[in-house]
Amino acid sequence: MLAQFRARRNARKRSLGCANRYNDRVTHKELKGRTAVITGGNRGLGKAIATALGSAGANIVLVARDKYVLSSAAEEVRATGAEVSAFPADVTDEKQVFQLAQDIRGRIGTVDILVNNAGINVRKSVEQFTLAEWNSVLATNLTSAFLMCRAFIPGMKGRGYGRILNLASMMGHVSIPGRAAYSASKAGLIGFTKALALELAPDGVTVVAISPGPFATEMNTPLMNDPQVSSQFTSRIPLGRWGDPEEIGKLAAYLCSEHAGFITGTDILIDGGWTAQ
Ligand SMILES: NC(=O)c1ccc[n+]([C@@H]2O[C@H](COP(=O)([O-])OP(=O)(O)OC[C@H]3O[C@@H](n4cnc5c(N)ncnc54)[C@H](OP(=O)(O)O)[C@@H]3O)[C@@H](O)[C@H]2O)c1
Repeated sequence: MLAQFRARRNARKRSLGCANRYNDRVTHKELKGRTAVITGGNRGLGKAIATALGSAGANIVLVARDKYVLSSAAEEVRATGAEVSAFPADVTDEKQVFQLAQDIRGRIGTVDILVNNAGINVRKSVEQFTLAEWNSVLATNLTSAFLMCRAFIPGMKGRGYGRILNLASMMGHVSIPGRAAYSASKAGLIGFTKALALELAPDGVTVVAISPGPFATEMNTPLMNDPQVSSQFTSRIPLGRWGDPEEIGKLAAYLCSEHAGFITGTDILIDGGWTAQ
């Protein structure tokens, strides 16, 4: 299903005459000299964000648990011409996050952009949820952003520029059955984004949440692989298609640019119109 999505997307791009959009659109390296840390950067939306920020000139630091997938993602992102490093870590683990911040500071230097993108979804009814499953969703989708921000903010302050992007979800605004933990975690992340934006505004560090609708990534393969569920989803998207991860990358690159310097403490929905209904 993911392969079919990619084939359709490439056909759409060809018909628009922009098969090589990354190269086409990044004419000036707006993020040159910036260093961006992206959690969950080894696949899906995280890799798309890394590719877009790398194309815009940023040095990229990818963080995720699976080091093999991480190193192949690093190789792919390097194709943009960016300098790319990979740091395996579990962002729900306080000690590992502390060590990660120390290692990145020592080996790479100061961080300008932090993208809290790592996330998981467990789809089942509240009655079927174990406490361990509930805690793992909250730890990965919400607490990890707190741990990462607490570890990296000290190095971001006092420099007149800084960007924190938190990957929330349209499910933080609306929901469907079976998404209690996921929706709770994402609504919490949007609240966290607002409070943190107020704390960091005096330092010129902006904090923004991005709330995607359904995007074609591994997280959604269980949905995309079921033709009935997939078409149910598509029928609820006014634009009639799954989102393309590159569209999240472009938004992230804009939010990290100087043009977005007045955007903070808010949440940007990119959902094909789902929440307008
Ligand atoms: N795809 C969508 O339609 C959609 C919609 C709304 C919101 N979002 C949000 O966007 C973000 C990215 O989604 P996606 O679709 O790209 O997901 P994905 O393809 O499943 O990727 C999730 C990423 O998070 C990493 N990760 C998970 N747990 C981690 C942990 N404990 N420590 C470090 N890294 C961890 C994974 O790497 P490892 O497993 O190697 O650690 C992977 O790189 C998530 O926060 C998701 O909730 C996605």
